[in-house]
Amino acid sequence: MKQIEPLDPSGLSQEQAQAEFLELQTQLAAADQAYHQNDAPFLSDAAYDAAKRRYKVLAEAFPELKDIATQLDSVGAPVTSGFGKIQHVVPMLSLGNAFEDSDVADFDRSIRNYLGFGASQPLRFTAEPKIDGLSLSLRYEKGVLIQAATRGDGATGENVTANARTIADIPQQLSGAPEVLEVRGEVYMSHEDFAALNARHTERGGKTFANPRNAAAGSLRQLDAEITRLRPLRFFAYSWGDLSAPLAQTQTGAIERLHELGFQTNPLTQTCASVAEMIAHYRQIEAQRATLGYDIDGVVYKVDDLALQGRLGFRSTTPRWAIAHKFPAELAWTRLEAIDIQVGRTGALSPVARLTPVTVGGVVVSNATLHNEDYIRGRDNKGEEIRGGKEIRIGDWVQVYRAGDVIPKVADVDLTKRNGDEQTFDFPETCPECGSPAVREEGDAVRRCTGGIICPAQAIEKLKHFVSRKAFDIEGLGAKQLEMFYNDPDLPIRTPVDIYTLEQRDLGQFTKLKNRPGWGDQSAANLFAAITEKRNISLGRMIFALGIRHVGEVAAKDLALHFGSWEDLASAVDAARSAALAHRAADLAEDQERERASSEGRRAKIKETREAALSVLELHRTAREAWEDLIGIDGIGATVGLSLSDALANMQERAVIDDLVAQLNISAPAAPSQESPVAGLTVVFTGKLEKMTRDEAKARAESLGAKVSGSVSKKTDILVAGPGAGSKEKKALELGIRILDEDGWLAEIAAS
Ligand code: IVH
Repeated sequence: MKQIEPLDPSGLSQEQAQAEFLELQTQLAAADQAYHQNDAPFLSDAAYDAAKRRYKVLAEAFPELKDIATQLDSVGAPVTSGFGKIQHVVPMLSLGNAFEDSDVADFDRSIRNYLGFGASQPLRFTAEPKIDGLSLSLRYEKGVLIQAATRGDGATGENVTANARTIADIPQQLSGAPEVLEVRGEVYMSHEDFAALNARHTERGGKTFANPRNAAAGSLRQLDAEITRLRPLRFFAYSWGDLSAPLAQTQTGAIERLHELGFQTNPLTQTCASVAEMIAHYRQIEAQRATLGYDIDGVVYKVDDLALQGRLGFRSTTPRWAIAHKFPAELAWTRLEAIDIQVGRTGALSPVARLTPVTVGGVVVSNATLHNEDYIRGRDNKGEEIRGGKEIRIGDWVQVYRAGDVIPKVADVDLTKRNGDEQTFDFPETCPECGSPAVREEGDAVRRCTGGIICPAQAIEKLKHFVSRKAFDIEGLGAKQLEMFYNDPDLPIRTPVDIYTLEQRDLGQFTKLKNRPGWGDQSAANLFAAITEKRNISLGRMIFALGIRHVGEVAAKDLALHFGSWEDLASAVDAARSAALAHRAADLAEDQERERASSEGRRAKIKETREAALSVLELHRTAREAWEDLIGIDGIGATVGLSLSDALANMQERAVIDDLVAQLNISAPAAPSQESPVAGLTVVFTGKLEKMTRDEAKARAESLGAKVSGSVSKKTDILVAGPGAGSKEKKALELGIRILDEDGWLAEIAAS
C-alpha cells in the first residue's frame, strides 16, 4: 500500500493531487474487494482507515476530484459485468399481484371466464409460499447440470453456472430426469445464516447487507465462485422451463417429481379446491411467517392442471394461470423534512418526500413518493377526499410504507404530532429545471413541464430510458455517464442520435474521451463497441426506447408487430394525425355554426354546415381509415394513438427520431410461422363465441401469427362472427371481407 502522506494537502498541485487520488482510489477498491469479497484482507484496519481519510481530505481540498470519485466499500453492489449472457429458451416471467381477498376471487373468476368454466365447475389450485430471494434457472442435459442463469430481463440472464455449483441444495447430477430439464426456483438465505454473515462483516468493521435477499443476490452474483461457496445459499424448486418430456399432468405432480429428483421443494405447498381454501391457506402461511426462518412476501396460487395452464397461457410478462397474493405492506412513521420536485421523462413533476431515515422492513428509507399535488392536499384526482382529507405539510410526522420492490410511499399523516411549525407546500407552476410553464391538463392528475427536450431534466430522463435494459441496453452507458455527457461542453450527448455520433465526434477533436478523468483507452473502446453493437435493434425495442408517453413495452411490441417497419408506422401516424385535424376542423365548424344558428334561429343551416364540414373529412378518407386502423390495433386505442401522433408532430423530436433511424439497422419482428394458415392475417372477432372465450380465441390467433383487431376496415382479412354479430358483420359484408363462423374459424386453424 502506498505510504500515507501527512494530511495537509495544501502544497499539492492539482495534477499531483489527482494522481494521488486516482492511485488511492484503485488501492482502496482492491482492499475493499479483498476484504469483502475474497474474505482475505491485505490491509490492517488502521492502514485502511488512514488511506480512506487521506482520500476524503483530497476530495475536500480539490472539489474537481469529487466528480471522479467512485463509491467505495459498497458490499452487495451487484456485479453487472463480467458474466456471460444466456438466452432463456423459455422466458422467465414474473407474476401478477393480488393484495386483497377480492383480488383472489377475481383471479378465479377471470380464469373461469377465460376457460368458459361455470362457477361450480371443479378447478384446483396449488398454494405455496412466495420466497423472497432471486430466481434461478438450472439446465440439465442427460441428467447433468450444464448451465445456471439468473432471470435478467426475463429473456436473457447472466451465466452463474460456476456459482450455482457451489450451492448444496442444487444437485449436480440427476437420475431418471427427462433428457432436457430446466428447473426453476428461488435462491435465498435463511435468517440464521444472514445474521451470522452480517455478524462476521460487523466484526471486521465492514458494511452489512440490508436484508437476506440482498445478501443472497450479492452472494450469487460474485465473479469469483469461491466467494459464493463461502456464502450459505439455499434453493427451493417451484417451476420449470425447457423440457424434453412432461414431468407430470399436474403442478402438484411436477413438484413431487422435482422433489424425487433431489430438489428441495416447499413443504407448505398445498392443493386447494376453492377460493376459500386458498385464502385459508394464505392465512395459515401468514401466521407462520415469522417462524419459518426465511423471508417470504406472499403466497403463490397456480392452476393445478397443466393442460389448463397450457390453455391459459401468458400475457406479455405474466402467466394467466398464476398470481402472487402479497402480504400487506410494511409500515413505519418518520418526519417529512422537505419536498423536492423531480421532473420525469414525459415532463411529469413528481413530488418526492425527503424523510428522516427510517427502517421499513429491514431497509432504510429516506425518500418516498408523494404522487402528485392533489395527493399532498388529501384529494384524489376527482377531488374526493383521501386520508380523510388530511393535507401533508413539511415538518409533519408521516407514515411510510413499502410493498415488495415498489418505491416507498407516504401513506398517512399524524395530525396530533403537529406543533404549528409545519409548512404548506406550494406546488410549483413552472418547471424547477428549465423554468417553462408546468401545466395540468383537464383530467390529468399530473402537472407537466412544457419544455420538451429543451428541458434538461426531461432530456436526461429520456436518454436514461433510451439506454435502459428493456430499450437499447447499452453497456457502460448508465445514468451516471449520461449525466456527465449531457453537461460535457466538448463531447455532449443531448439526444439519442448524439450517442451514435459520439465516436465520430470524439475522433474529430482533441477532447478525446480516453483522456478524460475516469476514462482510458480500454473503457473508451468498450463504450464505442457497446454502442456499435446496438446499432442492430428490433423495431419493438426501438419504439419503446423513444419514451413516448403511454407507449410502454407492450404497446411498442404490438405496434412493431402490426406495422413491421418504422417507416410504415410513421406514415400511418402522420396520416392518422391529418385525420384527427380534419375531425377537429369539422367539429369546430359545426360548433361555430351552431352558435350562430341558435342566435339567428337558422337551425336548418346546422345540418348543411355539418355536411360541408364532413366533406372535409371525406377528402381525408384515407387519413381517417389510417386513424381507425391505428386505434383499432388491439391494445392500442385512442390514448396511445394521440400520444404517438403528438410526439411525431413535434418538429424537434421528429428530427431526432429521423436522424436516429438513419443510424440504425432496425429489424422487423420475426415473421410468423409459415405453417400457420392465418399467419400475417388481420382477424376481427365479433358476436358470441361458444367453444372458447374471446380472450382465448384472441390469444390463440396471435400465437398463430395473426393480428387481432377490434374494428373492421379494408385491412381486415377475416371476420369471425358468432351469434348476435351486428355492425361489424354489416361493414365486413359491405367491404367484401371473408366472414367465418366459429366452426369455420376452428377448421381454418385446425391444421396448425
Ligand atoms: S412461480 C411463470 N412460485 O416471484 C412464473 N415464483 O414475482 C413462475 N417466486 O420471478 C414463477 N416464490 O422469482 C413462483 N413459489 C413461487 C415463487 C416464485 C418466489 C418469485 C419468482 C418470480 C417472482 C415473481
